[in-house]
Amino acid sequence: MSPENTRVAIIGAGPAGLLLSWALRDAGIDSIVVENRSQDYVLARIRAGVLEQSAVETLTRLGLGERIRTEGLEHDGIYLQFRGERHHVDFQELIGRSVTVYGQQEVVKDLIAAHNAAGSTIYYEAADVAVHDLESSAPRVTFTHAGEAHEITADFVVGADGFHGVCRASIPREAITLYDRSYPYAWLGILANVAPSTDELIYALHEDGFAMHSMRSPHVSRLYLQVDTADSLDQWPDERIWENLHARLGVPGWTLQEGEITDKSITPMRSFVASRLAYGSLFLAGDAGHIVPPTGAKGLNSAIADVTMLAAALAAHYADDDALLSGYGEAALRRQWRVQQFSQWMTDLLHRNRTDLQTMEFDYQSQLGRLDYVTGSVHAQRELAEQYSGLPF
Ligand code: FAD
Ligand code: PHB
Repeated sequence: MSPENTRVAIIGAGPAGLLLSWALRDAGIDSIVVENRSQDYVLARIRAGVLEQSAVETLTRLGLGERIRTEGLEHDGIYLQFRGERHHVDFQELIGRSVTVYGQQEVVKDLIAAHNAAGSTIYYEAADVAVHDLESSAPRVTFTHAGEAHEITADFVVGADGFHGVCRASIPREAITLYDRSYPYAWLGILANVAPSTDELIYALHEDGFAMHSMRSPHVSRLYLQVDTADSLDQWPDERIWENLHARLGVPGWTLQEGEITDKSITPMRSFVASRLAYGSLFLAGDAGHIVPPTGAKGLNSAIADVTMLAAALAAHYADDDALLSGYGEAALRRQWRVQQFSQWMTDLLHRNRTDLQTMEFDYQSQLGRLDYVTGSVHAQRELAEQYSGLPF
């Protein structure tokens, strides 16, 4: 058994865990990160792609802004497409804000490079990770690493271990309520080696379902299609994917360029919030505490928002001010519910729901009416712009 001691034991080396550890280091607070996957696996995981302005500011403030500045693609707005017409919503003009297209994978790459250079303690490939004594002021984390049993004692444990992690599940059932909403569709996402056919992201509602055109760089496109929840990747050969993307994203006078598909995945859509992000000496951050459907591009940004608040709260605690830390759970949840309602709104607005044959056509026409309203009203566009580009934290 190797006993260790640190101030903050962090479970999970996704963006939330890695960023928290980095922000704590910046504040002079020791932490140890425990991750059950390998570093290569964590680096290769392809997920979100849009950073809010506040997320870019946080990363920049912590010295992680170099590649975002040179390789990130700053976008002044998005396109909303329906009835085969494309409408630009110009955030910059509406509210003076923008977003940056920069893959989650790149954020994680920057964080791991910074940690490796600084010599941070991160245990990858940790097995049987468990948290103990959360009600006490000396909580523990146990795990096995390279065949050896480890035990870390800390002042606090942070669950940054994603939706399927162990930390939220360690809160007694009677002490927590889980609010959950699933959607009757999923997203099929591809990465393709081809220059984006658009300058900004296109969110399209089509009779056949939602489609979206995003990007990762001037040479790599990221595209999504609404598919059925029961669909599997072998039902979606490349030709079928491109055919559907052409049909759903097409507008007269514009062509979607095809390229070699290098990654394909299907992601279910879910909204989820835990009723508490704090329990004894445990705090939850990121997907461990809440999940959004990806339509509003909020998953990664929420994780960064939680961590920004939690790092400031822990720094204040070690400077003898507990107000922020005791208020973290409530403050992060209140912010999260505002993000939830926006993500749910964007998702309902842009997907075809075919579960109720009785109402599905009515619902589709009503969605078109809503999109007409949004694209025709400067007030509605401002509201969209403010929420999409991000609430301050
Ligand atoms: P994660 O990134 O999930 O990190 C949690 C970490 O904890 C992982 O490294 C995991 O391996 C580790 N872990 C889990 N269990 C344990 C354990 N028992 N012990 C130790 N470590 C553990 N958001 C968008 O905005 N747009 C998108 O397109 C988008 N696509 C997504 C696609 C998929 C398949 C998924 C799952 C999510 C997607 N998201 C998307 C959401 C976004 O990626 C997440 O919100 C973001 O990753 C949250 O970061 P996190 O660090 O909280 O959690
Ligand atoms: C992405 O680029 O992966 C992406 C962008 C915007 C979203 C979801 C995903 O809303």
